[in-house]
Amino acid sequence: MKANSSNAKGMNRRNFIASSGGAMLILAAGTSPSILKGAEILTIPSLPYPENALEPIISAKTVSVHYGKHHKGYLDNLNKLISGTEFADMTLELIIQKTSGQTDKAAIFNNAAQTWNHTFYWRSMNPNGGGEPPKSLLEKIESSFGSFDECKKQIVSAATTLFGSGWVWLVVDGKVLKVVKTSNAEVPFVSGMKPLLTMDVWEHAYYLDYQNRRADFIAATLDKLINWNFAVKNFEATM
Ligand SMILES: [Fe+2]
Repeated sequence: MKANSSNAKGMNRRNFIASSGGAMLILAAGTSPSILKGAEILTIPSLPYPENALEPIISAKTVSVHYGKHHKGYLDNLNKLISGTEFADMTLELIIQKTSGQTDKAAIFNNAAQTWNHTFYWRSMNPNGGGEPPKSLLEKIESSFGSFDECKKQIVSAATTLFGSGWVWLVVDGKVLKVVKTSNAEVPFVSGMKPLLTMDVWEHAYYLDYQNRRADFIAATLDKLINWNFAVKNFEATM
């Protein structure tokens, strides 16, 4: 995934590409002009919907701070950390793979993984989301979990039992779907699992709207916002 020419590298930087193991998926072609400083830095795509599109489940204020301060903050930190280093010419995913588990590279890993996770998170929701997954994914969920309700139950359970900050993921692990949780910035794809969806359970994702009611935030997101079509595309890309 490393760029082969300066022009290709520029395109690579401008198009955030997320992979799940061998599967690859272009998340968005757009970028935010406020953070597009040139071809030599990493950028993130704009939100796929207006800041108020997730209301009343997630407020515009939460989305604004979460995207504009936290997500962009991780990106800005990362660009500072990798400037002039061996990581400066790598894709975001390669930076994550190269720094995962490297204690002396923890700052780069954390900011790179958080940049990736948040881009994946915004696309894991949709203003018209929720409900049941399309049939192809629903059948896979039922064969892996026994029922769709059991899958949702495991997502809520993972979110509420995760100690501290982290992420809950629906992933493909081998031939089955699983719900897994990761602490802080950890990313399932470095362990070979292929993410289909994620939910941010850092307090900054919900505290303004839900305070300590993390379970309510997760349940409402599942019912009204979760983007099953995004999960289907990611699932199909693993096949
Ligand atoms: Fe977050």
